[in-house]
Amino acid sequence: MKEKIEQLQKEIEIKVKEVKTLKEWNDLKVEYLGKKGPISAILSGMRDLSIEEKKETGKLVNELKETVGILLDEQRAQIEAKELEEKLSKEEIDISLPATKIPVGTPNILEKLIEESEELFMSMGYDVVEGPELEKDYYNFELLNLPKGHPARDAQDTFYTKGEELLLRSQTSPVQVRTMLANEEKEPLRIVCPGKTYRRDDDDATHSHQFTQMEGLLIDKNISLADLKGTFDIIAKKLFGIERETRFRPSFYPFTEPSVELDISCFNCGGKGCPLCKHTGWITVGGAGMVHPRVLENGGYDPKEWTGFAFGFGMERLAMLKYGITDIRTFYTNDLRVTDTFNRTEAE
Ligand code: DAH
Repeated sequence: MKEKIEQLQKEIEIKVKEVKTLKEWNDLKVEYLGKKGPISAILSGMRDLSIEEKKETGKLVNELKETVGILLDEQRAQIEAKELEEKLSKEEIDISLPATKIPVGTPNILEKLIEESEELFMSMGYDVVEGPELEKDYYNFELLNLPKGHPARDAQDTFYTKGEELLLRSQTSPVQVRTMLANEEKEPLRIVCPGKTYRRDDDDATHSHQFTQMEGLLIDKNISLADLKGTFDIIAKKLFGIERETRFRPSFYPFTEPSVELDISCFNCGGKGCPLCKHTGWITVGGAGMVHPRVLENGGYDPKEWTGFAFGFGMERLAMLKYGITDIRTFYTNDLRVTDTFNRTEAE
């Protein structure tokens, strides 16, 4: 019996080596280890053996099965490795095929400009702060030197929600007083506050009852209009190009004294005069001024000790000018055909 088993092992060793494909490998496995194979035959023949012989033969058969299992595994690994190698060598990748385009989102143009402006102000040491959109009359008007009945309220006096005390803020200026009051140490301040504002207005190509402002406030010692001019000049040049000139025009805001309109030289005609600048050579982009002593006081800053300037930009207006957009509603409809136009990278 022992010889028979040894003989069988040799035979299998030779045959396993000859196997070349997974199909042949499978067939061989079934042939030798299957129910009808020689190993099964030996096992079923053991019935007629003595106990001693059964022990001996059982041990040999188990060893044989184990060896055959190992041989088969090794051979299978070799076949698979070879097949993979052949497959890879035959496979060709056409690197000239254009890649599949993956659509990616585009930031809203207005949002993009807000972020760009925030970065610019942060680079000049400003903090970006936020304030509530649902605001108290007290902060939106009262503390900004706009008492009840003040005529300058008329243009903004709009979306009241609860009696006359709460309204959708008509400007981001209330954040000025909020920030001053929150600063208990009464230290110098530099903040910008971008955010939504609401007021009664026509809804047409250049007006919307809801729009975005960016408020700015700087408070320190010995601040003058010259500081405001320098700051505005940098903003104009950074956002609209190094060639831009800036100028102040006298104006009125209840919370600043003196107050000015912020003009930049027209980037369309270079200041010569064109329809965009209504033939004046200048475009107004915001309002500003020196913080009114009463507003400083309301914020808890002693006007004898502190001075400061404030400004407010209409962000839609800035974006319309910067990107040549003619309808304000473009910002709110998020039409991908429009937003995608602004998604060009340098390389394109
Ligand atoms: N709040 C003003 C408006 O809505 C804009 C503005 C003007 C803000 C002058 C200021 C400022 O801070 O100093 O029309």
